[in-house]
Amino acid sequence: MMEWSREDRYRKIEEANKEEIAELNKKVEACPFRQVYHIQPPTGLLNDPNGFSFYNGRYQLFYQWFPLGPVHGLKYWYHTSSTDLVNWENHGVGIEPGDWFDSHGAFSGSGIEHNDKLYLLYTGNTRDENWVRAPYQCLAIMDKENNIIKHKEPIIREIPEGYTDHFRDPKVFKENGEFYSVIGIQNNDLKGRIVYYKSKDLINWEYKGEIKTSLEDFGFMWECPDYIELDNKGIMIFSPQGLEKQGDKYANIYQSGYMVGEKLNLNTGEFNHGEFIELDNGFDFYAPQTTEDLDGRRILVGWMGLPEIEYPTDKNGWAHCLTLPRELKLNGDKLIQTPARELEKLRSNHRSLEAKIESTEKAFEEFYGEQYELSCEIKDFESGKVGLKLRVSENEETVISYDIDNNKLTLDRSKSGEEFALEWGTTRSVDISCNVLKLRIFVDTSSVEVFVNDGEKVLTSRIFPSKESTGIKFFATKECSVISDIWSIDKK
Ligand code: FRU
Repeated sequence: MMEWSREDRYRKIEEANKEEIAELNKKVEACPFRQVYHIQPPTGLLNDPNGFSFYNGRYQLFYQWFPLGPVHGLKYWYHTSSTDLVNWENHGVGIEPGDWFDSHGAFSGSGIEHNDKLYLLYTGNTRDENWVRAPYQCLAIMDKENNIIKHKEPIIREIPEGYTDHFRDPKVFKENGEFYSVIGIQNNDLKGRIVYYKSKDLINWEYKGEIKTSLEDFGFMWECPDYIELDNKGIMIFSPQGLEKQGDKYANIYQSGYMVGEKLNLNTGEFNHGEFIELDNGFDFYAPQTTEDLDGRRILVGWMGLPEIEYPTDKNGWAHCLTLPRELKLNGDKLIQTPARELEKLRSNHRSLEAKIESTEKAFEEFYGEQYELSCEIKDFESGKVGLKLRVSENEETVISYDIDNNKLTLDRSKSGEEFALEWGTTRSVDISCNVLKLRIFVDTSSVEVFVNDGEKVLTSRIFPSKESTGIKFFATKECSVISDIWSIDKK
Protein backbone atom coordinates (compact mmCIF):
# COMPACT_ATOMS: atom_id res chain seq x y z
CA MET A 1 0.00 0.00 0.00
CA MET A 2 1.12 3.54 -0.77
CA GLU A 3 2.93 5.31 2.07
CA TRP A 4 1.43 8.71 2.74
CA SER A 5 3.88 11.40 3.76
CA ARG A 6 2.72 14.41 5.72
CA GLU A 7 3.14 16.51 2.56
CA ASP A 8 0.86 14.15 0.63
CA ARG A 9 -1.79 14.19 3.30
CA TYR A 10 -1.96 17.93 3.80
CA ARG A 11 -2.66 18.89 0.20
CA LYS A 12 -5.74 20.59 -1.12
CA ILE A 13 -7.63 19.03 -4.02
CA GLU A 14 -6.21 21.46 -6.56
CA GLU A 15 -2.68 20.47 -5.60
CA ALA A 16 -3.22 17.01 -7.07
CA ASN A 17 -2.57 16.82 -10.79
CA LYS A 18 -5.02 15.50 -13.36
CA GLU A 19 -3.26 12.15 -13.71
CA GLU A 20 -3.39 11.51 -9.97
CA ILE A 21 -7.12 12.25 -9.86
CA ALA A 22 -7.80 10.12 -12.94
CA GLU A 23 -5.83 7.27 -11.41
CA LEU A 24 -7.74 7.61 -8.14
CA ASN A 25 -11.13 7.65 -9.87
CA LYS A 26 -10.17 4.56 -11.82
CA LYS A 27 -9.22 2.69 -8.65
CA VAL A 28 -12.48 3.63 -6.94
CA GLU A 29 -14.56 2.60 -9.96
CA ALA A 30 -12.85 -0.76 -10.05
CA CYS A 31 -13.67 -1.48 -6.42
CA PRO A 32 -15.98 -4.47 -5.88
CA PHE A 33 -17.07 -3.14 -2.50
CA ARG A 34 -18.81 0.11 -3.45
CA GLN A 35 -22.06 0.50 -1.55
CA VAL A 36 -25.42 0.80 -3.28
CA TYR A 37 -27.60 2.70 -0.79
CA HIS A 38 -25.25 4.13 1.83
CA ILE A 39 -23.60 7.54 1.75
CA GLN A 40 -19.99 6.99 0.70
CA PRO A 41 -17.23 9.33 -0.50
CA PRO A 42 -16.69 9.73 -4.27
CA THR A 43 -12.98 9.14 -3.58
CA GLY A 44 -10.80 9.27 -0.49
CA LEU A 45 -11.80 8.96 3.12
CA LEU A 46 -15.08 9.74 4.84
CA ASN A 47 -15.38 9.96 8.60
CA ASP A 48 -17.77 11.74 10.97
CA PRO A 49 -21.21 12.97 9.95
CA ASN A 50 -21.29 16.76 10.40
CA GLY A 51 -23.82 19.59 10.32
CA PHE A 52 -26.81 17.21 10.33
CA SER A 53 -29.87 19.45 10.29
CA PHE A 54 -33.17 20.19 8.60
CA TYR A 55 -32.97 23.43 6.66
CA ASN A 56 -34.56 24.84 3.51
CA GLY A 57 -37.01 21.92 3.31
CA ARG A 58 -34.25 19.34 3.24
CA TYR A 59 -32.12 17.23 5.50
CA GLN A 60 -28.64 18.66 5.29
CA LEU A 61 -25.84 16.25 6.01
CA PHE A 62 -22.13 16.80 5.65
CA TYR A 63 -19.24 14.50 6.36
CA GLN A 64 -15.56 14.72 7.13
CA TRP A 65 -13.72 14.14 3.87
CA PHE A 66 -10.16 13.79 2.70
CA PRO A 67 -10.56 13.58 -1.09
CA LEU A 68 -7.15 12.36 -2.22
CA GLY A 69 -6.86 8.94 -0.58
CA PRO A 70 -8.04 6.56 2.15
CA VAL A 71 -6.12 8.33 4.93
CA HIS A 72 -6.80 11.02 7.51
CA GLY A 73 -5.36 14.07 5.76
CA LEU A 74 -6.56 17.61 5.20
CA LYS A 75 -10.24 17.40 6.10
CA TYR A 76 -13.01 19.08 4.12
CA TRP A 77 -16.73 19.02 4.79
CA TYR A 78 -18.53 17.26 1.94
CA HIS A 79 -22.18 18.32 1.52
CA THR A 80 -25.20 16.11 0.75
CA SER A 81 -28.91 16.78 1.20
CA SER A 82 -32.17 14.89 0.97
CA THR A 83 -35.92 15.37 1.32
CA ASP A 84 -36.52 11.84 2.54
CA LEU A 85 -33.39 10.47 4.27
CA VAL A 86 -33.13 7.90 1.45
CA ASN A 87 -32.20 9.71 -1.75
CA TRP A 88 -29.20 11.94 -1.16
CA GLU A 89 -28.02 14.59 -3.55
CA ASN A 90 -24.30 15.27 -3.58
CA HIS A 91 -23.31 18.94 -3.56
CA GLY A 92 -19.55 18.54 -3.42
CA VAL A 93 -17.33 20.49 -1.05
CA GLY A 94 -19.19 22.28 1.72
CA ILE A 95 -16.49 23.78 3.91
CA GLU A 96 -13.05 24.10 2.44
CA PRO A 97 -10.07 24.28 4.82
CA GLY A 98 -7.08 26.54 4.28
CA ASP A 99 -7.58 29.79 6.19
CA TRP A 100 -5.26 30.62 9.06
CA PHE A 101 -7.81 29.25 11.53
CA ASP A 102 -8.45 25.95 9.68
CA SER A 103 -5.21 25.49 7.76
CA HIS A 104 -4.95 21.80 8.69
CA GLY A 105 -8.54 20.77 8.40
CA ALA A 106 -12.17 21.77 8.83
CA PHE A 107 -12.86 19.28 11.60
CA SER A 108 -16.21 18.08 12.89
CA GLY A 109 -19.10 20.24 13.95
CA SER A 110 -22.82 20.80 13.67
CA GLY A 111 -25.51 22.98 12.14
CA ILE A 112 -28.51 25.01 13.27
CA GLU A 113 -30.94 27.28 11.45
CA HIS A 114 -30.90 30.96 12.42
CA ASN A 115 -32.25 34.03 10.58
CA ASP A 116 -33.13 31.87 7.57
CA LYS A 117 -29.56 30.65 7.21
CA LEU A 118 -27.82 27.48 8.28
CA TYR A 119 -25.07 28.21 10.81
CA LEU A 120 -22.33 25.62 10.75
CA LEU A 121 -20.03 25.44 13.76
CA TYR A 122 -16.86 23.46 13.30
CA THR A 123 -13.33 23.07 14.59
CA GLY A 124 -10.53 24.66 12.66
CA ASN A 125 -7.50 22.45 13.04
CA THR A 126 -4.14 24.18 12.69
CA ARG A 127 -0.52 23.15 13.13
CA ASP A 128 2.53 25.38 13.30
CA GLU A 129 5.91 24.63 11.71
CA ASN A 130 6.78 22.37 14.68
CA TRP A 131 3.51 20.55 14.16
CA VAL A 132 2.07 21.95 17.39
CA ARG A 133 -1.71 21.94 17.25
CA ALA A 134 -3.98 24.93 17.86
CA PRO A 135 -7.73 24.33 17.59
CA TYR A 136 -10.21 27.14 16.87
CA GLN A 137 -13.98 26.88 16.97
CA CYS A 138 -15.22 28.42 13.74
CA LEU A 139 -18.41 29.39 11.96
CA ALA A 140 -19.55 29.10 8.36
CA ILE A 141 -22.95 30.28 7.16
CA MET A 142 -24.93 28.61 4.38
CA ASP A 143 -27.77 30.24 2.45
CA LYS A 144 -30.64 28.68 0.52
CA GLU A 145 -28.53 28.40 -2.61
CA ASN A 146 -26.05 26.26 -0.69
CA ASN A 147 -23.42 29.01 -0.75
CA ILE A 148 -21.25 28.68 2.31
CA ILE A 149 -19.29 31.65 3.59
CA LYS A 150 -16.87 31.36 6.44
CA HIS A 151 -16.98 33.88 9.24
CA LYS A 152 -13.80 35.94 8.98
CA GLU A 153 -12.40 34.81 12.30
CA PRO A 154 -12.93 32.06 14.85
CA ILE A 155 -15.82 32.42 17.25
CA ILE A 156 -13.90 30.72 20.08
CA ARG A 157 -10.16 31.34 20.00
CA GLU A 158 -8.97 30.22 23.39
CA ILE A 159 -8.72 26.78 24.90
CA PRO A 160 -10.32 27.07 28.35
CA GLU A 161 -7.84 26.96 31.20
CA GLY A 162 -7.03 23.52 32.57
CA TYR A 163 -7.36 21.71 29.25
CA THR A 164 -5.09 20.54 26.42
CA ASP A 165 -5.23 21.33 22.70
CA HIS A 166 -7.62 18.39 22.17
CA PHE A 167 -10.64 20.67 21.97
CA ARG A 168 -13.07 20.03 19.15
CA ASP A 169 -16.44 19.06 17.67
CA PRO A 170 -18.94 21.77 18.71
CA LYS A 171 -22.54 20.55 18.77
CA VAL A 172 -24.98 23.43 18.91
CA PHE A 173 -28.54 23.47 20.24
CA LYS A 174 -31.14 26.03 21.20
CA GLU A 175 -32.87 26.28 24.57
CA ASN A 176 -35.18 29.10 25.69
CA GLY A 177 -34.18 31.27 22.76
CA GLU A 178 -30.46 30.99 23.48
CA PHE A 179 -27.81 28.91 21.84
CA TYR A 180 -25.53 26.45 23.58
CA SER A 181 -22.67 24.39 22.31
CA VAL A 182 -21.12 21.30 23.88
CA ILE A 183 -17.53 20.66 22.84
CA GLY A 184 -15.26 17.64 23.38
CA ILE A 185 -12.04 18.27 25.30
CA GLN A 186 -9.18 16.69 27.24
CA ASN A 187 -8.19 18.04 30.65
CA ASN A 188 -4.62 18.55 31.85
CA ASP A 189 -4.77 15.17 33.61
CA LEU A 190 -5.35 13.72 30.14
CA LYS A 191 -8.96 12.73 30.84
CA GLY A 192 -11.83 13.14 28.40
CA ARG A 193 -14.39 15.84 29.23
CA ILE A 194 -17.13 18.01 27.70
CA VAL A 195 -17.30 21.77 28.13
CA TYR A 196 -20.09 24.10 27.11
CA TYR A 197 -20.62 27.64 25.88
CA LYS A 198 -23.58 29.98 25.55
CA SER A 199 -24.48 32.56 22.89
CA LYS A 200 -27.32 34.84 21.87
CA ASP A 201 -26.29 35.25 18.24
CA LEU A 202 -24.05 32.25 17.42
CA ILE A 203 -21.12 34.63 16.97
CA ASN A 204 -20.25 35.79 20.50
CA TRP A 205 -19.80 32.88 22.86
CA GLU A 206 -19.46 32.84 26.63
CA TYR A 207 -17.60 30.00 28.33
CA LYS A 208 -19.85 28.32 30.88
CA GLY A 209 -17.61 25.52 32.18
CA GLU A 210 -17.41 21.78 32.27
CA ILE A 211 -20.34 19.41 32.06
CA LYS A 212 -20.27 17.83 35.52
CA THR A 213 -20.72 14.10 35.15
CA SER A 214 -19.85 11.26 37.50
CA LEU A 215 -17.29 9.87 35.07
CA GLU A 216 -13.93 10.98 36.47
CA ASP A 217 -11.71 8.52 34.71
CA PHE A 218 -13.32 7.35 31.52
CA GLY A 219 -10.85 7.54 28.67
CA PHE A 220 -8.33 10.16 27.55
CA MET A 221 -10.54 12.10 25.15
CA TRP A 222 -14.26 12.50 24.49
CA GLU A 223 -15.00 13.30 20.88
CA CYS A 224 -18.18 14.42 19.17
CA PRO A 225 -20.51 15.19 22.10
CA ASP A 226 -24.21 15.65 21.38
CA TYR A 227 -26.78 16.72 23.96
CA ILE A 228 -30.45 15.95 23.29
CA GLU A 229 -33.69 15.73 25.23
CA LEU A 230 -36.41 13.12 24.86
CA ASP A 231 -39.45 12.60 27.12
CA ASN A 232 -38.22 15.32 29.47
CA LYS A 233 -34.94 13.56 30.07
CA GLY A 234 -31.44 14.65 29.13
CA ILE A 235 -29.26 12.41 27.01
CA MET A 236 -25.54 12.97 26.50
CA ILE A 237 -24.03 11.18 23.56
CA PHE A 238 -20.26 11.13 23.09
CA SER A 239 -17.37 9.06 21.77
CA PRO A 240 -14.81 8.29 24.49
CA GLN A 241 -11.35 7.13 23.51
CA GLY A 242 -9.20 4.90 25.69
CA LEU A 243 -11.66 2.58 27.46
CA GLU A 244 -10.41 -0.91 28.35
CA LYS A 245 -12.36 -3.84 26.97
CA GLN A 246 -14.63 -5.36 29.67
CA GLY A 247 -16.18 -8.69 28.71
CA ASP A 248 -18.25 -7.97 25.62
CA LYS A 249 -18.20 -4.24 26.26
CA TYR A 250 -15.88 -1.68 24.64
CA ALA A 251 -14.54 -4.20 22.15
CA ASN A 252 -13.67 -1.66 19.43
CA ILE A 253 -10.66 0.63 19.37
CA TYR A 254 -12.90 3.56 20.44
CA GLN A 255 -16.48 3.72 21.71
CA SER A 256 -19.64 5.71 21.16
CA GLY A 257 -22.43 5.76 23.66
CA TYR A 258 -24.88 7.72 25.74
CA MET A 259 -26.01 8.40 29.26
CA VAL A 260 -29.61 9.17 30.15
CA GLY A 261 -30.29 11.49 33.04
CA GLU A 262 -32.15 14.50 34.29
CA LYS A 263 -32.11 17.45 31.96
CA LEU A 264 -28.75 19.14 31.85
CA ASN A 265 -28.62 22.14 34.17
CA LEU A 266 -27.56 24.86 31.76
CA ASN A 267 -26.61 27.25 34.56
CA THR A 268 -24.31 24.97 36.49
CA GLY A 269 -23.41 22.30 33.94
CA GLU A 270 -24.62 19.60 36.30
CA PHE A 271 -25.75 16.43 34.63
CA ASN A 272 -27.10 13.64 36.86
CA HIS A 273 -27.09 10.55 34.79
CA GLY A 274 -27.15 6.77 34.65
CA GLU A 275 -24.61 4.38 33.19
CA PHE A 276 -22.78 4.81 29.89
CA ILE A 277 -24.32 2.51 27.28
CA GLU A 278 -22.83 1.80 23.88
CA LEU A 279 -25.02 2.93 21.00
CA ASP A 280 -23.97 0.10 18.75
CA ASN A 281 -22.51 -3.31 19.51
CA GLY A 282 -21.05 -4.04 16.08
CA PHE A 283 -17.52 -3.65 14.77
CA ASP A 284 -17.73 -0.36 12.88
CA PHE A 285 -19.50 2.56 14.42
CA TYR A 286 -18.21 5.88 15.69
CA ALA A 287 -18.80 9.63 16.10
CA PRO A 288 -22.59 9.69 15.57
CA GLN A 289 -24.58 12.91 15.32
CA THR A 290 -28.30 13.59 15.70
CA THR A 291 -30.79 16.14 14.51
CA GLU A 292 -34.45 16.83 15.13
CA ASP A 293 -36.68 17.13 12.08
CA LEU A 294 -39.99 18.87 11.41
CA ASP A 295 -41.96 15.91 12.77
CA GLY A 296 -40.03 16.18 16.02
CA ARG A 297 -38.23 12.95 15.27
CA ARG A 298 -34.68 12.61 16.59
CA ILE A 299 -32.57 11.02 13.88
CA LEU A 300 -29.05 9.67 14.31
CA VAL A 301 -26.39 8.97 11.71
CA GLY A 302 -22.99 7.52 12.53
CA TRP A 303 -19.68 6.93 10.83
CA MET A 304 -19.55 3.26 9.81
CA GLY A 305 -15.85 3.05 10.51
CA LEU A 306 -13.21 3.67 13.11
CA PRO A 307 -9.97 5.62 13.29
CA GLU A 308 -6.57 3.95 13.05
CA ILE A 309 -7.76 0.80 11.28
CA GLU A 310 -6.97 -0.22 7.72
CA TYR A 311 -9.90 -1.36 5.60
CA PRO A 312 -9.91 -3.53 2.47
CA THR A 313 -11.11 -0.65 0.27
CA ASP A 314 -7.98 1.36 1.09
CA LYS A 315 -6.23 -0.22 -1.87
CA ASN A 316 -9.00 1.14 -4.08
CA GLY A 317 -8.48 4.70 -2.94
CA TRP A 318 -11.50 5.18 -0.70
CA ALA A 319 -12.70 4.29 2.77
CA HIS A 320 -15.87 4.18 4.86
CA CYS A 321 -19.51 5.17 4.63
CA LEU A 322 -22.20 6.55 6.91
CA THR A 323 -24.76 4.37 8.67
CA LEU A 324 -28.40 4.42 7.70
CA PRO A 325 -30.38 7.11 9.53
CA ARG A 326 -32.00 5.78 12.71
CA GLU A 327 -34.82 7.19 14.74
CA LEU A 328 -34.17 7.47 18.48
CA LYS A 329 -36.80 6.92 21.15
CA LEU A 330 -36.47 6.52 24.84
CA ASN A 331 -37.70 3.46 26.72
CA GLY A 332 -37.05 4.05 30.41
CA ASP A 333 -33.37 4.82 30.56
CA LYS A 334 -32.46 3.10 27.31
CA LEU A 335 -32.45 4.38 23.78
CA ILE A 336 -34.36 2.43 21.18
CA GLN A 337 -33.03 2.82 17.64
CA THR A 338 -35.08 1.95 14.60
CA PRO A 339 -34.31 2.49 10.92
CA ALA A 340 -35.93 5.70 9.63
CA ARG A 341 -39.35 4.67 8.30
CA GLU A 342 -38.58 6.20 4.88
CA LEU A 343 -36.09 3.38 4.26
CA GLU A 344 -39.08 1.20 3.34
CA LYS A 345 -39.04 3.11 0.05
CA LEU A 346 -35.99 1.11 -0.90
CA ARG A 347 -37.91 -2.16 -0.85
CA SER A 348 -38.57 -4.07 -4.05
CA ASN A 349 -39.26 -7.68 -4.99
CA HIS A 350 -40.82 -8.96 -1.78
CA ARG A 351 -40.46 -12.64 -0.84
CA SER A 352 -41.50 -14.33 2.40
CA LEU A 353 -41.29 -17.65 4.16
CA GLU A 354 -42.50 -19.60 7.15
CA ALA A 355 -40.64 -22.67 8.26
CA LYS A 356 -39.75 -25.03 11.05
CA ILE A 357 -36.09 -25.79 11.53
CA GLU A 358 -34.78 -28.78 13.44
CA SER A 359 -31.12 -29.44 14.23
CA THR A 360 -29.96 -28.14 10.90
CA GLU A 361 -29.39 -25.14 8.71
CA LYS A 362 -31.69 -24.45 5.83
CA ALA A 363 -31.64 -22.31 2.71
CA PHE A 364 -34.84 -21.25 0.95
CA GLU A 365 -35.50 -20.66 -2.69
CA GLU A 366 -35.62 -16.95 -3.50
CA PHE A 367 -33.94 -16.02 -0.22
CA TYR A 368 -30.59 -14.69 -1.32
CA GLY A 369 -29.00 -11.41 -2.27
CA GLU A 370 -26.20 -8.92 -2.11
CA GLN A 371 -28.17 -5.80 -1.19
CA TYR A 372 -31.39 -6.27 0.71
CA GLU A 373 -33.51 -5.76 3.77
CA LEU A 374 -34.46 -8.89 5.67
CA SER A 375 -36.73 -9.07 8.66
CA CYS A 376 -37.44 -12.19 10.64
CA GLU A 377 -38.99 -13.57 13.76
CA ILE A 378 -37.41 -16.65 15.22
CA LYS A 379 -39.41 -18.38 17.95
CA ASP A 380 -40.51 -21.66 19.54
CA PHE A 381 -37.02 -22.35 20.79
CA GLU A 382 -35.95 -23.65 24.19
CA SER A 383 -32.24 -24.10 24.21
CA GLY A 384 -29.13 -24.24 22.06
CA LYS A 385 -28.52 -21.69 19.33
CA VAL A 386 -30.69 -20.21 16.63
CA GLY A 387 -29.96 -17.66 13.97
CA LEU A 388 -29.08 -17.00 10.40
CA LYS A 389 -26.15 -16.77 8.06
CA LEU A 390 -25.94 -14.25 5.28
CA ARG A 391 -23.62 -13.50 2.37
CA VAL A 392 -23.01 -17.26 2.28
CA SER A 393 -20.98 -19.19 -0.28
CA GLU A 394 -18.84 -22.28 0.01
CA ASN A 395 -16.12 -20.45 1.96
CA GLU A 396 -17.84 -17.38 3.28
CA GLU A 397 -20.61 -16.56 5.72
CA THR A 398 -21.57 -13.83 8.15
CA VAL A 399 -23.30 -15.33 11.15
CA ILE A 400 -25.86 -13.88 13.54
CA SER A 401 -26.61 -16.33 16.32
CA TYR A 402 -28.59 -16.21 19.51
CA ASP A 403 -27.31 -18.34 22.35
CA ILE A 404 -30.56 -19.07 24.18
CA ASP A 405 -28.97 -20.57 27.29
CA ASN A 406 -26.57 -17.67 27.80
CA ASN A 407 -28.83 -14.89 26.54
CA LYS A 408 -26.28 -13.62 24.09
CA LEU A 409 -26.50 -12.48 20.50
CA THR A 410 -23.29 -12.75 18.48
CA LEU A 411 -22.24 -11.38 15.12
CA ASP A 412 -19.38 -13.39 13.67
CA ARG A 413 -17.50 -11.98 10.71
CA SER A 414 -14.55 -14.39 10.85
CA LYS A 415 -15.62 -15.82 7.46
CA SER A 416 -17.07 -12.65 5.97
CA GLY A 417 -14.59 -12.37 3.13
CA GLU A 418 -11.52 -10.15 3.06
CA GLU A 419 -10.06 -10.00 6.53
CA PHE A 420 -9.12 -6.82 8.36
CA ALA A 421 -8.80 -5.41 11.89
CA LEU A 422 -8.10 -8.92 13.14
CA GLU A 423 -6.32 -7.71 16.26
CA TRP A 424 -9.74 -6.44 17.42
CA GLY A 425 -11.30 -9.91 17.12
CA THR A 426 -13.83 -11.39 14.75
CA THR A 427 -16.97 -11.58 16.88
CA ARG A 428 -19.09 -9.07 18.75
CA SER A 429 -21.67 -10.11 21.34
CA VAL A 430 -24.36 -8.40 23.30
CA ASP A 431 -26.68 -9.51 26.12
CA ILE A 432 -30.33 -9.82 25.21
CA SER A 433 -33.06 -12.05 26.52
CA CYS A 434 -36.20 -13.00 24.62
CA ASN A 435 -38.63 -15.73 23.67
CA VAL A 436 -39.04 -14.34 20.20
CA LEU A 437 -35.96 -13.02 18.45
CA LYS A 438 -36.81 -10.22 16.03
CA LEU A 439 -34.20 -9.05 13.57
CA ARG A 440 -34.31 -6.36 10.94
CA ILE A 441 -31.19 -6.52 8.83
CA PHE A 442 -29.91 -4.18 6.14
CA VAL A 443 -27.26 -5.67 3.90
CA ASP A 444 -25.35 -3.59 1.38
CA THR A 445 -22.41 -4.64 -0.80
CA SER A 446 -19.98 -4.36 2.09
CA SER A 447 -21.95 -3.78 5.27
CA VAL A 448 -24.57 -5.19 7.57
CA GLU A 449 -26.74 -3.34 10.09
CA VAL A 450 -28.68 -5.58 12.46
CA PHE A 451 -31.55 -4.07 14.47
CA VAL A 452 -32.43 -6.46 17.28
CA ASN A 453 -35.83 -6.78 18.99
CA ASP A 454 -37.38 -3.59 17.63
CA GLY A 455 -34.28 -1.53 18.16
CA GLU A 456 -33.24 -2.59 21.65
CA LYS A 457 -29.74 -3.22 20.25
CA VAL A 458 -28.00 -2.53 16.96
CA LEU A 459 -24.90 -4.16 15.51
CA THR A 460 -23.30 -2.35 12.59
CA SER A 461 -20.37 -3.75 10.68
CA ARG A 462 -18.46 -3.64 7.46
CA ILE A 463 -17.96 -7.00 5.76
CA PHE A 464 -16.09 -7.69 2.54
CA PRO A 465 -17.46 -10.89 0.99
CA SER A 466 -17.14 -11.76 -2.65
CA LYS A 467 -19.96 -10.94 -5.05
CA GLU A 468 -20.84 -14.63 -5.32
CA SER A 469 -21.59 -14.90 -1.61
CA THR A 470 -25.32 -14.29 -1.73
CA GLY A 471 -26.75 -17.21 0.22
CA ILE A 472 -28.98 -16.96 3.29
CA LYS A 473 -29.49 -19.84 5.73
CA PHE A 474 -31.49 -20.10 8.90
CA PHE A 475 -30.32 -22.52 11.57
CA ALA A 476 -31.21 -24.08 14.90
CA THR A 477 -28.98 -26.43 16.87
CA LYS A 478 -32.23 -27.87 18.28
CA GLU A 479 -35.44 -26.36 16.96
CA CYS A 480 -37.26 -23.17 16.16
CA SER A 481 -39.76 -21.69 13.77
CA VAL A 482 -39.04 -18.79 11.44
CA ILE A 483 -41.16 -16.19 9.72
CA SER A 484 -39.20 -13.97 7.40
CA ASP A 485 -39.55 -11.32 4.71
CA ILE A 486 -36.92 -10.12 2.31
CA TRP A 487 -36.85 -7.20 -0.09
CA SER A 488 -34.21 -6.50 -2.68
CA ILE A 489 -32.63 -3.08 -2.69
CA ASP A 490 -31.30 -2.13 -6.06
CA LYS A 491 -31.15 1.62 -5.97
CA LYS A 492 -28.31 3.11 -7.98
C1 FRU B 1 -13.66 11.87 15.28
C2 FRU B 1 -12.69 12.99 14.94
C3 FRU B 1 -13.15 14.30 15.53
C4 FRU B 1 -12.47 15.30 14.62
C5 FRU B 1 -12.55 14.61 13.28
C6 FRU B 1 -11.41 14.89 12.36
O1 FRU B 1 -13.56 10.80 14.39
O2 FRU B 1 -11.39 12.67 15.41
O3 FRU B 1 -12.85 14.48 16.89
O4 FRU B 1 -13.11 16.53 14.62
O5 FRU B 1 -12.62 13.23 13.55
O6 FRU B 1 -11.64 14.33 11.10
